[in-house]
Amino acid sequence: MENKVIKVNLGKSSYNITIGRGSLSHAEKYLDLKRKVLIVTDDNIPKKYVQKIKSKSQKAYIVVIKHGEKNKNYKNYLKIIQTLISYRFDRSDAIVAIGGGMVGDMAGFAASTYMRGIDFYNVPTTLLSQVDSSIGGKTAINVTKIKNIIGTFYQPKSVLIDTDVLKTLPKRELNSGIVESIKMAATFDKNFFGFLCSCDDIIKNSENIIYKSLILKKRVVEKDEKEKGLRKVLNFGHTIGHAIEESMNYKLLHGECVGIGMLFFSSEEAKSKIESALLHYNLPTSCKIDKRKIIKLIKHDKKAKNDMISTIQVDKIGSYKIINIGLHDIAAIL
Ligand SMILES: NC(=O)c1ccc[n+]([C@@H]2O[C@H](COP(=O)([O-])OP(=O)(O)OC[C@H]3O[C@@H](n4cnc5c(N)ncnc54)[C@H](O)[C@@H]3O)[C@@H](O)[C@H]2O)c1
Repeated sequence: MENKVIKVNLGKSSYNITIGRGSLSHAEKYLDLKRKVLIVTDDNIPKKYVQKIKSKSQKAYIVVIKHGEKNKNYKNYLKIIQTLISYRFDRSDAIVAIGGGMVGDMAGFAASTYMRGIDFYNVPTTLLSQVDSSIGGKTAINVTKIKNIIGTFYQPKSVLIDTDVLKTLPKRELNSGIVESIKMAATFDKNFFGFLCSCDDIIKNSENIIYKSLILKKRVVEKDEKEKGLRKVLNFGHTIGHAIEESMNYKLLHGECVGIGMLFFSSEEAKSKIESALLHYNLPTSCKIDKRKIIKLIKHDKKAKNDMISTIQVDKIGSYKIINIGLHDIAAIL
């Protein structure tokens, strides 16, 4: 089957996203590996994916981070930077991230800051990172318990999505990833939402799910690269979702938290539809909520100002509105 290619049009920072089964075996066609390359990955990613990139690179070094969201931190960021320094990477060299959103966010942040920016390639290996964090150029690390508090907007040179890698992804991670597609569909596309509600095999349909999700997100990030307005829609479910994720010490996965988070900002009608979609993928629709902790964490949200926060509400599937809500009102709905 032919690869699908999406061009993200962002002027000088434009790039292609290539989606295809087995595409990792031809990585050199999509990434310029004829140079010094630092591969950043985590200890749960099957080594065969890393080897495929390594074998196609002129000179490759590898940094392996311990898996898990709490490792998306300053210490590991520094580990990447120190490796770049010790192998004398310069501005003509590149970083390749092979992993989920944790690795992608941190490697992207390192690429954007080392020598004021070196080339960054993203090879996302979770469904979540393929449908969402592969596009839009957000990079970040967490500090103390505050998610993504340091970061940059930095577009990759190119993104390579091999859907075959999803075969080794644990089922819980696969289901967690589909939440970002449900989010895109709930806010923009009711037909796609209907498709997701009845899809019985994520892997079989992965090319289409990824392509459709990325096309929806592409339209947003092309209009608003740096989240001045429209891009806020992508945060549907994230205000409370991020706070749940942090308050539970990352015991629930990112997608699981975003799924629960969406239910707090939906009309009764939309809520019951989103709930059915989540249940279809065995995703949680509620969890133990520590109100005090959650409100405290929301205060640190980048969208919070003077105890008010701008967030997204879905009343009808396929549409959304931006609302401003006080932290007191959020406490009341929790
Ligand atoms: N930059 C963005 O726009 C953006 C968007 C959404 C989420 N994010 C970030 O993404 C992160 C979550 O990403 P995630 O859900 O991909 O989690 P993750 O990166 O933590 O990966 C989840 C787990 O799956 C393992 N794994 C990854 N690929 C695998 C594969 N093919 N086979 C077997 N195991 C595999 C990983 O080792 C890890 O243990 C969060 O930090 C979130 O903030 C960023």
